[in-house]
Amino acid sequence: MRNQIAAANWKMNLTYQEGEQLMNDIVKASIHLKGHQKAIFAVPFPYLMMAIGKTASMVNYAASAQNCYEKKSGAYTGEVSAEMLHSIGIKYCVLGHSERRAYFNESNLVLAEKIARCLESGITPIFCCGEPLDIREAGTQNSYVGAQLKESLFGFNAQQLQKMVIAYEPIWAIGTGKTATTEQAQEMHAYIRAELEKHYSHAVASDIPILYGGSVKAGNAKELFSCPDVDGGLVGGASLVAKDFIEIIKALK
Ligand code: 13P
Repeated sequence: MRNQIAAANWKMNLTYQEGEQLMNDIVKASIHLKGHQKAIFAVPFPYLMMAIGKTASMVNYAASAQNCYEKKSGAYTGEVSAEMLHSIGIKYCVLGHSERRAYFNESNLVLAEKIARCLESGITPIFCCGEPLDIREAGTQNSYVGAQLKESLFGFNAQQLQKMVIAYEPIWAIGTGKTATTEQAQEMHAYIRAELEKHYSHAVASDIPILYGGSVKAGNAKELFSCPDVDGGLVGGASLVAKDFIEIIKALK
């Protein structure tokens, strides 16, 4: 079975002390993960070492960055490179979150560069895609997401693609409490997988985890994750509450 992943995205929330307490509470639950299951914590940069420390003794638990810069190194004050993340032991980096696309103007082409930097440094990109509400209402979400995949991912070869995780996050479902229905999630995930199959191969497409993000909660995770093409979730709000995220980890296939 391909990897099933519960990924927490803390975004710009929690003090260090609150984050440490949250990690303690989740780790204390000692949820045993099977070989194909993973729990990943995308925490703010200053908390990465703490998250690495807390997950170090846990099998299949890992820390993730929420972003990195597209250049290798140099005079880019305030930025963090993929190589720096690798040098402290980070294995994952969320890229192209809709909040970064909206507030920091990250384009599909810049994201392709960030993905390249991550792959060069042995970091698995968690590449986010997803359509805004007007696109969903117009019914053109497939071509919108298709263009995101094409411009950011399809310049990479099959071997590189197999090192990635994709997260489908419909923007209208993020932080709104309005979750995509299981039919909407499954339909888009199947479309993404079909696109991967078209550009690469059946083997590559079947191997890549595609996570759903957008108001995933303890109460709906199991149903969403039960969709055949939904391989877990990228979770914002509910990942900030230990008992909720614990339930979400337990809901993995
Ligand atoms: P919510 O779970 O708060 O809707 O956020 C989803 C998200 O953006 C995860 O990256």
